[in-house]
Amino acid sequence: MMKSSQIAEYEGQPITAYTIENKSGVQMTVLDYGATWYQLTIPTAEGRQNLLMSFKDVADYTEPSGYPGKIIGRVAGRIGDSQFKLGDRLVTVPANEGTTCLHGGPNGLSTRMWQASATDDTVTLTCDVTEAIDGFPGNLTATVTYQLTDSNQVIIKMTGASDALTVFNPTNHVYWNLNAGDETVLNHQLTIASDSHLELPANKVPTGAVIDNAGTPFDFTTATSLGKAIDGMQVTDEKGFDDVFLIGEHDEAQPVATLSAGAITVEEYSNRNALVVFTTNKFDQSQAFEKTSQPYVGIAMEAQTAPNAISDSAFGDITLAAGTPRTEEIRYAITF
Ligand code: GAL
Repeated sequence: MMKSSQIAEYEGQPITAYTIENKSGVQMTVLDYGATWYQLTIPTAEGRQNLLMSFKDVADYTEPSGYPGKIIGRVAGRIGDSQFKLGDRLVTVPANEGTTCLHGGPNGLSTRMWQASATDDTVTLTCDVTEAIDGFPGNLTATVTYQLTDSNQVIIKMTGASDALTVFNPTNHVYWNLNAGDETVLNHQLTIASDSHLELPANKVPTGAVIDNAGTPFDFTTATSLGKAIDGMQVTDEKGFDDVFLIGEHDEAQPVATLSAGAITVEEYSNRNALVVFTTNKFDQSQAFEKTSQPYVGIAMEAQTAPNAISDSAFGDITLAAGTPRTEEIRYAITF
């Protein structure tokens, strides 16, 4: 079942919300602005419970604040000095965090109005960006499909097609909080299929050094209390996780991350080589979520190719050749 409604406005254009409901009564809502995954609600004895951190006011999605549920691109994460080599060319893209280009820059895919259409189980969104719009080479058509299956899986397919050599490393920036009430995610358990993470200096652009997780708060190889791990991070400036976990070769039938609280479990599947985990360590009332906004109010687990792939091919290849579309997939399986 699908329904759509206009729930806000952006520059005189309506923002439309598309809601799909599956056979178990799970509802997924997607916005055309930012190709945003707005809500995922499950039926409970007390009514609907939203598992995502969603802004109270849909108009807030048009402000650059925290990227909840947004599609991030063309390139997720940070591009140091907003510069990279592409073939023979030194490309400079717009900065939006000091001298760094973060999450596709100031005019990235998360800031665009997308064209949307929906079926009983999918919402498909497309967006054309040119170098004049976002500063990245080539005319790119991005297509994102969100599918909600009857087995309570959300499958996100992100396709890039360009007419010239460019870069494409998209992700979805959804934040989870599996509590029915206002509690933070400190009571959640997290497992990540990762043995190492990247060293990050103060500007968070990876240095290329790889650090073992074993014996550190980064070791989530078995289900671990997020609260305990974050206690172990209080010695850092970040006071929590905003880190790149490397994901090695793995059986694709196995999740890269499993998050649970009470009876609710979310498994994340991806074939990318990194998972950026961000635990909203410094969030405050400036992000007006449905839940009381505070540090650790949510957790984002952004599957992507390691952010330093843009400067070091040892970490992967995010180039997109002309006329050769590439699709990246993230799949979440929910049990409750
Ligand atoms: C994360 C990033 C954080 C922060 C967040 C959005 O992916 O690593 O530093 O920018 O997005 O609030």
